[in-house]
Amino acid sequence: MENTFEETIQRTGTRSVKWDLLSSIYGSNDVLPMWVADMDLAVPEPVKEALVERAQHGIFGYTFTDQLINKSVTEWLKKRHQWDIKQSWILYSPGVISSLHMAVQALTEPGDRIMIQTPVYPPFYDLVNLHDRKLVKNPLRLQDDRYTMDFDHFESELQKGVKAFILCNPHNPVGRVWTKDELEKVAELCLKHDALIFSDEIHADLIYPGHKHIPIASLSEEINQQTITCMSPTKSFNLAGLQVSYLVTPDNKKRDAINHQFKKQGVHILNTMGITAVEAAYNEGEQWLDNLIQLLDKNKKLVESSFKDIPEIQVIPAEGTYLIWLDCRSMQMEHGALKKFMQEQAKVGLNDGVSFGEEGSGFMRMNIACPTVTVKEGIDRILLAVKKRQ
Ligand SMILES: Cc1ncc(COP(=O)(O)O)c(C=O)c1O
Repeated sequence: MENTFEETIQRTGTRSVKWDLLSSIYGSNDVLPMWVADMDLAVPEPVKEALVERAQHGIFGYTFTDQLINKSVTEWLKKRHQWDIKQSWILYSPGVISSLHMAVQALTEPGDRIMIQTPVYPPFYDLVNLHDRKLVKNPLRLQDDRYTMDFDHFESELQKGVKAFILCNPHNPVGRVWTKDELEKVAELCLKHDALIFSDEIHADLIYPGHKHIPIASLSEEINQQTITCMSPTKSFNLAGLQVSYLVTPDNKKRDAINHQFKKQGVHILNTMGITAVEAAYNEGEQWLDNLIQLLDKNKKLVESSFKDIPEIQVIPAEGTYLIWLDCRSMQMEHGALKKFMQEQAKVGLNDGVSFGEEGSGFMRMNIACPTVTVKEGIDRILLAVKKRQ
């Protein structure tokens, strides 16, 4: 399959959040955008062809999901993650964050305590706060350059009564792909203390060599019943603008309750093009994805080797995702000054570490899902600015 990953595709003028909002977000159009989690890379050719063919039809009326798309999903999960699910366990939704909002509303009550592991993808805070649930933080521990879960604290919070734990696996922004041992411990503790697990596995397909994604629900029948897994091909195949995802749970009661929430919000149908894209990506995109992972691995190694010799920036080695968590604390700058430095001196548009929680102070997140020349440009800009500072 043709690999066009080195082609720089102009995205300005496409209403791209990443490229067309630069001046309003970073104050200048000269900033190189390496922030919001989509890719500057074209989708697999068969996905583009399927969308073009569907567009040529010319009618975009209400569209339903059927057994064929279910089959694409179940076969994908089996083949890529060795997870055997039934078609009836799937519920489609416009996005993983929508699914999580519905799960919170359907399966927890106002005042319930919901736990997240910080620093974490910013909308996780809204999942708890916007619904008047109580936010419980189980901060991740950083030792050397590796994040781990603090299980003692995790259990002490569960003992106080936690209704649901929102797992992020692989974890955005710290890039961990949780191991079987870690997931078994999470599962054991959540079962022991009867906490539901809402597992955001949107980055599941983006795993670097040497690591393996394990859906937590696949660990045992008991944990499967306790878990709502939210997945989507949108990160893996760069389809976020098509607004499509799905959740999986074998428990009919939980799935029905979530579906009821969707209905209450008037969400009852999917985007026609999204359905077309999921099917084409899962049925015909596997080789493209394997090639993509090679590109991401190359880009990741480039970031790691480029910053290796400067003490100011330590790269947290990612095991999954195309998001690189940069530890800039050795720059000894107050966080606001660090943000300003990246924006105004280096002229790169990174995600602000503090948006992931206070634990992100002194950190920035870099998106490397772009041609290698773009990653190199971003690195060079940062290195030059750091050098000038000395
Ligand atoms: C962990 C995580 N969950 C969810 C999303 C967004 O998913 P969706 O666009 O399907 O709501 C992102 C996007 O970056 C993410 O990183």
